[in-house]
Amino acid sequence: MPKHTVVTMPGDGIGNQVLPEALRLLKAVQFDAEYVHADIGWDCWCREGNALPDRTEDLLAKHKLGLFGAITSKPKKQAEAELRPELRGKGHSYFSPIVSMRQRFHLDTCIRPCISFPGNPLNFIRKSPDGGFEEPFVNVVIFRQNTEGLYAGVEWTNPPEQVRAGLATHSKFKSFANVPGPDLAVSVRIITRSAARKICRAGFDWAKQHGYKSVTICEKPNVLRETSGMMEEEAKDVAKEYPGIALWCTNIDAQTMWLTKNPEEYDVVVASNLFGDVISDAFAGLVGGLGFAASGNIGDEVAVFEPTHGSAPKYAELDPPIVNPIAMFLSAVMMLEHVGEIEKARRIRDAIAAVVKQGRVRTYDMMRLAGGPKAIAQGAATTVQMTDAVLAKLDRTQVSYLPEFAVTGSSRQR
Ligand code: NAI
Ligand code: MG
Repeated sequence: MPKHTVVTMPGDGIGNQVLPEALRLLKAVQFDAEYVHADIGWDCWCREGNALPDRTEDLLAKHKLGLFGAITSKPKKQAEAELRPELRGKGHSYFSPIVSMRQRFHLDTCIRPCISFPGNPLNFIRKSPDGGFEEPFVNVVIFRQNTEGLYAGVEWTNPPEQVRAGLATHSKFKSFANVPGPDLAVSVRIITRSAARKICRAGFDWAKQHGYKSVTICEKPNVLRETSGMMEEEAKDVAKEYPGIALWCTNIDAQTMWLTKNPEEYDVVVASNLFGDVISDAFAGLVGGLGFAASGNIGDEVAVFEPTHGSAPKYAELDPPIVNPIAMFLSAVMMLEHVGEIEKARRIRDAIAAVVKQGRVRTYDMMRLAGGPKAIAQGAATTVQMTDAVLAKLDRTQVSYLPEFAVTGSSRQR
């Protein structure tokens, strides 16, 4: 019997294109696993009124390891319009299945590494004072609290009377007291001390295990005094247990500016749910964007790995597919590391690094082309060709992922 069972959830759109490619790599490194398909996403919503069917939850509860592609979410009115007529008016309401999955299985720790691949033409560069340019090595790992905060789902348009009454006990609510219910939308930002502590501790543990020198807590405690205040308080308390690792406290707005000035100064970054979502996309933009951004959603029992990109519907029907599968590959690599298959993970990562560095095979995004069927005629590789290139480099490369990093165009390097 295989050692692992992976629940594969391609989902919608390009999820169906990139996930099977990742499986080709996992098979090539002989990951000792079997794969069980599970349904998730928009079709499930339209047909069944539930984007995360019970049978998928059952498979995840049983096998505890998931690989997920992407899903499509649409606004409330459109979701209602596309629901099968027999199901309308029966109390079904659309909720993102990936957010549901994170909550249902307490996948409270989201890890999003943003690490430059040498030679990636999408890497961030900046002008240096001598008129040249420099390419700082970005090596940041974001720890995002994944189940609470503004994504907890506690929200209303036209809040019930008791909620309004509760809000009215707060002096600051006075300015909203006369807003008619249908014109009032409220989303609650919930932070619990235990979850705040857990995500801070996860960030510090990672820093310690992987040799990072600092942890940055990225919040906004000067304004969000209660919720961000609690995150920062816990970070400061947890930091005392990690004497060799510095704690930096930044505000989310300033952080989005600083990361384009000196991204190489950041190591592990911890944030609550929405801020973690924002800051991880921002850092991902410095190392290649959505085609390179991978993530792990980790709970005490279940873990699900996924690229951060969505279903990219405008490319989903293209034949052959043109999207970059590397974000999906890196998600599979994170899965291998999670189950202790460090060597297999390293082999795939090194092969990706070799393909990127060589620069012969590039998907349209890596060539800064507009996506579409014309991209291939302009020299872009297809999704499958990218996989083939990585497969061809497996175990045939001396390139190691992290050690050296090229700075071009300038002699200056930090
Ligand atoms: P998206 O991530 O699907 O695509 C945005 C753009 O990024 C694409 O049009 C494409 O230009 C580029 N892109 C994305 N993945 C790429 C890849 N692998 N290679 C090359 N280029 C890539 O985000 P968008 O368009 O905002 O949302 C589309 C749908 O996906 C929506 O329904 C949204 O709700 C959903 N979504 C789902 C997520 C998930 O499953 N975790 C995350 C983000 C969005
Ligand atoms: Mg996002």
